[in-house]
This record gives sequence, structure tokens and C-alpha cells, in this order.
Amino acid sequence: MNPKEVVGRKAADYIEDGMVVGLGTGSTAYWFIDELGLRFQAGTLANIVGVATSKQSEDQARKLGIPVVDIDEVNHIDVLVDGADECTTEFSGIKGGGGALLMEKIVAQHSRTIIWIVTQEKIVDTLGAFPLPVEIVKYGSWKLFRQFDQAGMHPTFRKKGVDSIFITDQGNYIIDLHLEKIPNPQQTAFELKNLVGVVEHGLFINYPDIILAVNDAGEIVTYK
Ligand code: A5P
Repeated sequence: MNPKEVVGRKAADYIEDGMVVGLGTGSTAYWFIDELGLRFQAGTLANIVGVATSKQSEDQARKLGIPVVDIDEVNHIDVLVDGADECTTEFSGIKGGGGALLMEKIVAQHSRTIIWIVTQEKIVDTLGAFPLPVEIVKYGSWKLFRQFDQAGMHPTFRKKGVDSIFITDQGNYIIDLHLEKIPNPQQTAFELKNLVGVVEHGLFINYPDIILAVNDAGEIVTYK
């Protein structure tokens, strides 16, 4: 088993009968959803419903027979299991490498317990080596791009393939900011949120309650 599979399957141990489960997005969350499906089909996990953070996760869950409901149909999500692109042991991180940051943050906001599943090398002291995704509306997107460029934030439009621009599940663009280091994530988050046209950014400050970090040997360290 590859480490992502190990930690993804392990995270399913946190799910109990009757829970509303937040379904993360990405190549690590994939294994969590897969394990959820196996347990659901085997009857060892009953009466769960999923709230998806992307179309991709919704499709995967439905194929496995897991009931999926809209976030507005539930009061809260009991446990959300999601990946991250970078995270600190102070429980902050960068997400959105897969382009699902907006739905991921909305689901996270309404989750009682948030578990991040990551490979060990994603744990960092300072965020920012991973490009920070910023979801923006299409209208005026080049204006925002130039603003980021002039501020020295090294923006690039997220692409799909070689030629086309990536469109999120909510119909927006993503600009990735190549910052290298984000010494003050709160300040950066505040500044980004204040820009008209920015829908959301990939800084998740003080989000996860638990981080499960797996190393190459498949050993898991739990931070909580
Ligand atoms: C999706 O938009 C992201 O936030 C993912 O959760 C994150 O990129 C982690 O993905 P992997 O598990 O594929 O590395």
C-alpha cells in the first residue's frame, strides 16, 4: 500500500454509524472515500451520509453506493476528512492544489471535527513553498492578476492541460501565488479577502483538529 492509501484508509476509523461525513478531495482523500465505501458495503458502517467537497468526490462516493446530500440539507457535518498541500503542526495549512478550496472551506466551516490526512513531507515550519491558490470570479480576472503581479506575488492562472484555463466546480478561476514563504498567514489571508473579485483563498488557518501524517514506511503520526 502506498502511504496515501494507508493514511486514507486509517482515517475511516474515526467514522461511526449514523454520522454525516465530509468527503475531502484529492489523491489522499480518495482512499478515505474508498475505505468508507468498502465498510458501508460490508455493513460495518451503517446509516452514514456524505457531504462532498467537489464533484469528483461526490461521483466517487455515489459509485460506491454512499448516499450523498447537499450541504444545505444537513445541520452540520460530524467529521470531515480531507487532504492538504502543506500544513504546520500549529494546525494551519494551504489547500486547493486540486482546485476544490472553496467547497472544502465551506464544508470545513460547518464540520465539528476536521481531520487532515497528509504525507509527512507536507508538514512544514513556514507555509508558502506550495503555491497559494486564490479562487476569483471571471470578471476582471486580468485586473486582479496584474494587481498580484505588481505586488510581487508571482501569479499564474491555473491551467487545465496546456491551453485552457481551469474552471472550479463553482464556475470560477484560480490564480496561484508563488510566494515561497508566507511569514504572516493571518495578514496575507486578511489582505486577500479584502480584494474585490476574490471569492476565497487556500489559507486554512487553525482548521484541523487532528492531523494524521504518514511517512514512507506507512507509519502514522497523529497531531491533535
Ligand atoms: C483539493 O483542492 C486540495 O485541497 C487537496 O485536498 C489537496 O490538494 C491535497 O491533495 P492530495 O491529497 O492529492 O495531495
